[in-house]
Amino acid sequence: PTKEKLELITQKIRPFPDFPSKGIVFRDICPILKDPAALNAVIELFEEHVRETCPGVQMIVGLDARGFLFGPLLAQRLGVGFVLVRKKGKLPGPTTSVSYTLEYGKAEVEIQEDAIEAGQKVLLIDDLLATGGTLYAACELMKKLKAEVLGCLVVIELTDLKGAERIKPNHVFSLVQY
Ligand code: PRP
Ligand code: ADE
Repeated sequence: PTKEKLELITQKIRPFPDFPSKGIVFRDICPILKDPAALNAVIELFEEHVRETCPGVQMIVGLDARGFLFGPLLAQRLGVGFVLVRKKGKLPGPTTSVSYTLEYGKAEVEIQEDAIEAGQKVLLIDDLLATGGTLYAACELMKKLKAEVLGCLVVIELTDLKGAERIKPNHVFSLVQY
């Protein structure tokens, strides 16, 4: 059934050439969300992987914005909490931030200082790994809060961009690779 679930997911990823700029093939995950079976397949494959490889996880950390679509669903299945890493300027209270570059721009991510306790075991989640800039910055945020990163989860990995190298020694688990 893993193969069938992956097929269900792959069918629902739409490529858009030259978006948001020339030369970029944008991998659109919106059709996954429109199809309950495909969305369920994503969450089940993540859940299976986490239960097998990181049973001690205490918190799922989702990346702004598309990590928010999958993270809370997975956290609920696992019976753990969900925390937001946001683009700068969106979170109230004391925060800490890290700047980074991505496939088509530059940005800064931020987290509330009290979102995670020192020593807590976390998994990061996003829809897609491209250059790894975003996940790398999120891992740096985790370092600042002294969280223990067990790994990163993404639906899609663009392997040519070597994002997995960038976030080493942290490990990435991806469902679909291009
Ligand atoms: C996209 C994607 C990842 C990131 C991957 O988000 O959802 O978060 O880029 O690229 P990287 O591996 O090169 O860092 P984007 O910054 O476009 O923001 P959005 O989720 O708000 O659309
Ligand atoms: N984020 C960075 N690169 C991307 C791509 N090619 N498709 C969708 N989201 C992205």
